[in-house]
Amino acid sequence: MSNNLLKGKRGIITGALDENSIAWKVALKAHEQGATFVLTNAPLAMRLGTIKQLAEQTKSEIIPADATNVEELTNLFTKSQEVLGGKIDFVLHSIGMSPNIRKNIPYTELNYDFYMKSLDISALSLHKMLAVAYKLDALAKEGSVVTLTYIGAQRVFPFYTDMSDAKATLESIVRNFGYHYGKKNKVRVNSVSQSPTKTSAGNGIKGFAEFFDLANMQSALGNASADSCADYCITLFSDYTKMVTMQNLFHDGGYSTTGVSMEMMDKL
Ligand code: NAI
Repeated sequence: MSNNLLKGKRGIITGALDENSIAWKVALKAHEQGATFVLTNAPLAMRLGTIKQLAEQTKSEIIPADATNVEELTNLFTKSQEVLGGKIDFVLHSIGMSPNIRKNIPYTELNYDFYMKSLDISALSLHKMLAVAYKLDALAKEGSVVTLTYIGAQRVFPFYTDMSDAKATLESIVRNFGYHYGKKNKVRVNSVSQSPTKTSAGNGIKGFAEFFDLANMQSALGNASADSCADYCITLFSDYTKMVTMQNLFHDGGYSTTGVSMEMMDKL
């Protein structure tokens, strides 16, 4: 159902790898709500994934960019404005990867080259995108930038290892760049802290399936799906949230404020 919430808006959507990706759902909904946008992902991921299918479905162009590479990001923001015919109204940063998690390395034994990669891909890439956009003056007045995060930034989830540190840095960048971009031209920057979600990134975490069920039991509304996360992102790109910025917004069915649920108690 379309309310044309994003009619006339131009966007850049990162991170759609396959149909389970949160970004994939955001792209479908942004299209449904009248937006035009460019899809982007790392060149390697584009070969593995099925982004072309999404591009056809949403009548979008794909501009590859490694989000850790400033030159490629500069090309992305420059070309996107040409393709879409003006400044960018919204950006979805939906990027995360930890080589330490992929290789099952525990927090106490992190490989530091991998650690730097996790931070660069999962956190600094947001700073790089915002800095490139800022320098090029590529974001429209009252634009909106949303990134995705996890409660591992605030609380300890041992299996989340260095991604916890990356997400804490990411959320700090949201606040700090949010200040500067708000002052510059009222662009807002927020993070959405999402429930565990069955995607390629989620499933890569050891014990994810069990934890998914636990979180589901611990949330009054149950785990938030990728689809509902996309709905929330659309509201943040829309004109109905113009005064929300520099926030970490929990989209987790109540998980973050629950001490313990009765279902969990019954399990003991
Ligand atoms: P996903 O695996 O579908 O998406 C991650 C994306 O990051 C992929 O498209 C991948 O190609 C892209 N990426 C990796 N390295 C990149 C690089 N150097 N340059 C550009 N793109 C790169 O998984 P999902 O779950 O949709 O992840 C999206 C975001 O949501 C991530 O930030 C993740 O941490 C976050 N998130 C995921 C949760 C989950 O349980 N799946 C929970 C909370 C947050």
